[in-house]
Amino acid sequence: MQKIVSVCGARPNFMKIAPLVRAFHARGGIESILVHTGQHYDERMSRLFFDELDIPKPDLNLEVGSGSHAQQTAEIMKRFEPVLVEHQPDWVVVVGDVNSTIACGLVASKLGIGLAHVEAGLRSFDRSMPEEINRVLTDTISDLLFVTESSGMTNLLAEGVAREKIHFVGNVMIDTLLTHRERAEDSTILDEHNLTPGGYAVVTLHRPSNVDDAAVFGSILDALEELGRELDIVFPMHPRTRNNLATLGLETRARGMSNLRILDPLGYLDFLQLMSQSSLVLTDSGGMQEETTILGVPCLTLRHNTERPVTIECGTNRLVEPRKEAILEAYAEVKAHPPDTTRKPELWDGRAGERIAAILASSRH
Ligand code: UD1
Repeated sequence: MQKIVSVCGARPNFMKIAPLVRAFHARGGIESILVHTGQHYDERMSRLFFDELDIPKPDLNLEVGSGSHAQQTAEIMKRFEPVLVEHQPDWVVVVGDVNSTIACGLVASKLGIGLAHVEAGLRSFDRSMPEEINRVLTDTISDLLFVTESSGMTNLLAEGVAREKIHFVGNVMIDTLLTHRERAEDSTILDEHNLTPGGYAVVTLHRPSNVDDAAVFGSILDALEELGRELDIVFPMHPRTRNNLATLGLETRARGMSNLRILDPLGYLDFLQLMSQSSLVLTDSGGMQEETTILGVPCLTLRHNTERPVTIECGTNRLVEPRKEAILEAYAEVKAHPPDTTRKPELWDGRAGERIAAILASSRH
């Protein structure tokens, strides 16, 4: 019997943890304990996902809440350590690249408990992103590294990680997408907002590089205003983006844009349906670059780099400078030359969770 403590904390973690916990339960011989750090806590940033994705209620919620990076990371560590001391698991599984990932990984590693990182090896090579620091550090201390795309393998080998620790297993976030795609078709989100399939763009932004600076955020809004002449624009807004819109003095302007609909953060099923029927996605999210690759929707990633190069190789994703002219130019190109939507990354087939469970079940630390 293997005892596994799985960790989730922030919104993108929930889609990744769901297929893992399901696979652990389906496979005998694994005792699974789920810990929520409480990094995200709003109903619409957390509980909704547990309900929709049928994730069992966490065995423990550390309720850390928000704070500076150091405060949040330290608080998670302080509260997670006694959990591991009490349960003494064989493995701790962390996913993605958020503060909860590195905080819990560090605690496990210091206690000599086996650490498995799901979504290992992704690199933007941009250390100004907090997630890049979390990725590099988590991978360095992990005993098992599960990678989603071949760049992950290349990066880890280049950093000197032993080949036998690395497993190319596919993408758990895509497991979740494929599992729920049909159910998402029952969503009424398009009707609720008077949208026609193929007649609108979906926008999400939350990275400091895009939403902390009034000039950058303002220039993106300029582009959305222009795009709004052709397409409806739907913008489900992350809480920190909404806060910034107000503090940067951009709220009146954004609310006055007739074709821009600012919504509260959406649940998984509504959001999946919204993305899948859209003609264009503009985002700075990591996960949405991957989801649009599988959905075959053109994605303009408003960043200078991506840690997920396979999404660009497949053709749906392109990097665009977060500036009005660059965004409009990229949109014109996508319209003139729609991307090939038939190419899909290797092993993004809905079975990554099962592969990971099988490897963990037979691995000793
Ligand atoms: C975190 C992740 C980021 C991920 C994102 C997805 C880190 C370093 N960043 O960023 O990689 O892409 O989640 O959402 O871990 N807030 C709320 N309610 C909540 C959660 C947050 O209002 O439930 C607000 C608070 O003002 C908080 C701010 O959002 O201070 C930022 O939250 P935080 O968890 O620190 O980072 P995110 O920007 O969400």
